[in-house]
Amino acid sequence: MNTAAPHDAPEVIMAKRDGHALSDSQIDWVVDAFTRGDVVPEQMSALAMAILLNGMDRREISRWTNAMIASGERMDFSSLSWPTADKHSTGGVGDMITLPLAPLVAACGVAVPQLSGRGLGHTGGTLDKLESIPGWQASLSNEAMLAQLEDVGAVICAAGAGLAPADKKLYALRDVTGTVEAIPLIASSIMSKKIAEGTGALVLDVKVGSGAFMKDIDRARELAETMVALGKDAGVNTVALLTDMATPLGVAAGNALEVAEAVDVLAGGGPADVVELTLALAREMLAAAGRSDVDPADALADGRAMDVWRRMIAAQGGDPDGALPQARETHVVTAPTGGTLQRLDAYDVGIAAWRLGAGRSKPGEQLDLGAGVTLHAKPGDVVAAGQPLMTLHADRPERFDRALAALEGSFDLGDEPFERTDVVLGRVD
Ligand code: URA
Repeated sequence: MNTAAPHDAPEVIMAKRDGHALSDSQIDWVVDAFTRGDVVPEQMSALAMAILLNGMDRREISRWTNAMIASGERMDFSSLSWPTADKHSTGGVGDMITLPLAPLVAACGVAVPQLSGRGLGHTGGTLDKLESIPGWQASLSNEAMLAQLEDVGAVICAAGAGLAPADKKLYALRDVTGTVEAIPLIASSIMSKKIAEGTGALVLDVKVGSGAFMKDIDRARELAETMVALGKDAGVNTVALLTDMATPLGVAAGNALEVAEAVDVLAGGGPADVVELTLALAREMLAAAGRSDVDPADALADGRAMDVWRRMIAAQGGDPDGALPQARETHVVTAPTGGTLQRLDAYDVGIAAWRLGAGRSKPGEQLDLGAGVTLHAKPGDVVAAGQPLMTLHADRPERFDRALAALEGSFDLGDEPFERTDVVLGRVD
């Protein structure tokens, strides 16, 4: 019997380096060998860079995604009495939409199995945000997750180690080798996890702008089209919204600050852009799961979404009435002149929040959960000279200087007429 491996890593790396499409067999082998440790991290890093530079065609992306799914377990929600729909955001600043969205959609009769992650770079992570609620636990067994989904209709928890382990290893490498921003790698990373998770329907929120991985709408559309095609090929009813991330979403960037904002939305208030996007995504999720007859605005207004939120938090050990952590120190940034706020840069605010203690600079680092930035004005608002524009929150006041440096040049004030744009910039189905 011939037990020799069908390929070796230099051959696969050189093929992609020289601009060739990888064969199905090369892809299956390299993803499996990397997961097992036979392809070493420096070889996979070189291949990731070759993919970033030379791209992949649709067949290669689809095969790569399937190989990542095959590296681990697949979950199955077919025993539930509810239809299921999930949402995934490609990540932004102040993007806490999952928090009000999951209970809202559940309140409308569609269960939401949200396997979420931690913060990455300047973008926040849903699990970090929820951990600012006293007692709340991110880790659930698959059985506990299924039981909570059946009982409450919504779960937000950490993806178990068994789900797409190839992606976990590859993601950690990409994060430190400048290879995050490759469309084939982002699309296969996101979709391998969502397809393995077993949701019936999926709505993708593809962020566009300075605070997103995709800075321009053409690349965002290409990413959305690639992911929608992967989802449909796998039998998941998938649509994508392209949404604005040139400016932070809502008025808070930071873990506990964003939880407080989510609770405001569930209580019927909250910033207009957050409410608009929550409802737009909820409508898409309900439609994709066959419930376009239900209007989520009603469940937000009459408190049903808030009831599900409270049950969802309590089911994972959290106290929905518990006090959220507050930073010990604040620093207010004021408007240097009067005028209309023309621009407020999402990336700069994200970096500032990160430096204040809302994000990590090394894996596993403890966060300052009350740290972050609150915004007192959004683009289009008129402010007077000396009026507060932002408040910075930190436990350690020595962090203010570097956060303020990140915010230099982050906003423009002027007298030109301001044209508001919608949060939703496009749709791909
Ligand atoms: N989120 C993911 O899960 N993977 C990526 O590659 C980018 C964002």
